[in-house]
Amino acid sequence: EVNPDNLPPNVADWSRYLGAGVDAAPYGMPSEHEAHVVRRSVEWLTASRESSVNFTPLHELDGIITPNGLCFERHHSGVADMNPTDFRLMINGLVETPLVFTLEDLKRFPRENRIYFLECAANSGMEWRGAQLNGCQFTHGMVHCVMYTGVPLKYLLEEAGVKTNARWVMPEGGDSAGMNRSIPLEKALDDCMVAFKMNGEALRPEQGYPARLVVPGWEGNMWVKWLRRIEVGDEPWHAREETSKYTDLLENGKARRFTWVMDTKSVITNPSPQAPLLHSRGQTVLSGLAWSGNGRITRVDVTTDGGRNWHQARIDGPSLPKALHRFYYEFDWDGSPLLLQSRAYDDAGYVQPTKNELRAARGTNSIYHNNGIQTWEVKADGSVENVEIS
Ligand code: MTE
Ligand code: CO
Repeated sequence: EVNPDNLPPNVADWSRYLGAGVDAAPYGMPSEHEAHVVRRSVEWLTASRESSVNFTPLHELDGIITPNGLCFERHHSGVADMNPTDFRLMINGLVETPLVFTLEDLKRFPRENRIYFLECAANSGMEWRGAQLNGCQFTHGMVHCVMYTGVPLKYLLEEAGVKTNARWVMPEGGDSAGMNRSIPLEKALDDCMVAFKMNGEALRPEQGYPARLVVPGWEGNMWVKWLRRIEVGDEPWHAREETSKYTDLLENGKARRFTWVMDTKSVITNPSPQAPLLHSRGQTVLSGLAWSGNGRITRVDVTTDGGRNWHQARIDGPSLPKALHRFYYEFDWDGSPLLLQSRAYDDAGYVQPTKNELRAARGTNSIYHNNGIQTWEVKADGSVENVEIS
């Protein structure tokens, strides 16, 4: 509600008095006027609070970094309350010397800082059979992107001495779900890391404090939080999370499994159902996010007329492999209804598919790995709805 007394040429209220002093908030919080910018969950998707998910408010953010307090959460048995002094990371199995590291031990290895997206394989899963949830927070909000500080997993495995017949590693969580996944040794030695900081500060409890595994470009499920053990083996473990879950049943009755890479994907975050166009016709900024588990995004195209004409969007900010990319497309809105879509390309040559292309390849039973092109319908009054067009 606009208060005319605050508007020029008047002297606004906030200019008349001293403001709060330093230390009013020893740990700073966003402006109270931003209180609506929060993670949100979907009631009917939530069987219990402990085995649940909430979503990043993508439509309220800009740039490529997700603030720590807004990173979506996905827990299978709630947030483990792990004490950093009692934290231990064990490496066992096919190694010369089984080892147990404290947090301080981890911090004596050379550290690296890298920016990566994490996307749950189930992101957009509710949209597989048709347009469902009204808001990019809910359709695409199981993704975040932060700078991790940690130790390359390679150094820890080298310290333990991996045996020549080793082919796989199995990270395991210290939460009561004991979350575990099989990861090929090749990936573990390539770019995985054990992270203890995100965006410069300690991991948040929700994100696996005090340490989590980072598995760049691959299913969020493999990024084990509250890490307690890494077993080295010669075969995959066929854990629950890679057999009964995180597999896709195809039309022929066979299931796709070990589908690790999160494919090329993009979404327009503004305008979108929770972020309608509030201005009248004229100068308009369209914005969105694109990412690929294969590497860098090289190009994003957008359409405002349901795919008749495509325009190359402008990627702005850092273009880092396996990280979110921010794109913009500035245009003059003539006030008529629009059908908005974005399509991303990556440096491995992949192009984001349409939802119908995905369904043709994978049938209608899938949940995971929906990277299909999203459509938003902008109406003449500026409101926006989640729709599908064929
Ligand atoms: N690790 C443990 N120990 N327990 C879990 O429940 N959930 C996984 C993964 N790691 C999970 C876990 C899933 S399915 C996802 S998508 C990511 O963590 C979510 O990470 P976030 O909560 O930091 O967004
Ligand atoms: Co997940």
